[in-house]
Amino acid sequence: MDWGLKNRLSRIIKPDTGHTVMLAVDHGYFLGPTRKLEVPRDTITPLIPYADALMLTRGVLRTSVEPTENLPIVLRVSGGTSIIGPSLADEEITTTFEEAIRLNVSAVALSIFVGTEYEKQTLKNLADLVTEGQRYGIPVLAVTAVGKKLEKRDARFLSLCCRIAAELGAHFVKTYYCDDFQKVVESCLVPVVIAGGPKLETFRDALQLAHDAMSQGAVGVDMGRNIWQSEQPVASIRGVRAVVHGGATVDEAMEIYEGEMAKTT
Ligand code: 5RP
Repeated sequence: MDWGLKNRLSRIIKPDTGHTVMLAVDHGYFLGPTRKLEVPRDTITPLIPYADALMLTRGVLRTSVEPTENLPIVLRVSGGTSIIGPSLADEEITTTFEEAIRLNVSAVALSIFVGTEYEKQTLKNLADLVTEGQRYGIPVLAVTAVGKKLEKRDARFLSLCCRIAAELGAHFVKTYYCDDFQKVVESCLVPVVIAGGPKLETFRDALQLAHDAMSQGAVGVDMGRNIWQSEQPVASIRGVRAVVHGGATVDEAMEIYEGEMAKTT
């Protein structure tokens, strides 16, 4: 791996623990004003001190994050579809590398939609992005498909998606947690982070998800709704950090979360 690429990646995946807590706030690119992300700046600002990286679009970056913040940016560069359109999978690359460089990002991210009619198009998007990423020293995060029909959370399907992403050159991969998750990680070739998915019933469930993923080889989380749609987002991200970076059990992380909650009530 080239020096620049490795340097950028190690801003995201912290070398002291080998882990990362990425905060995902890119949902608006196909969902519009998602609940609790209506005013992104209000959601993002209090969480910045606790996030290792921020995953978002250029629009939210420019309007809602101060350029003086010293936080690695993972820029979503795919899109062009919406939740009410004919197919979420019909994505194209929406942001150039020139702009990503101008925005001083640490990585770019795109979605791939394996198993859909747009599989080839989105995998070609990935391959092209990796070619450019290699040229400029910018890592590429491949996100395995989102969307209700596509959330096939089984190890066979997710291993297929993640391995294809790695074979096409993705430098790290984001996917869903599933049973036998270690099989997904073992066959992926590059580091894997997990998405949180829709908000779970309790915050303990979100911690359990993070804990199970970490214990089966994930390098971290790229979590959104389970943090910022929770009752107390700062308490939540601190709990997740305890699991990801501190190796805390779910009970220990719950204590941290409840301690933080108590301070604010
Ligand atoms: C959308 C994404 C989101 O960033 C991802 O789903 C993570 O957020 P959440 O934890 O809310 O699922 O990649 O394509």
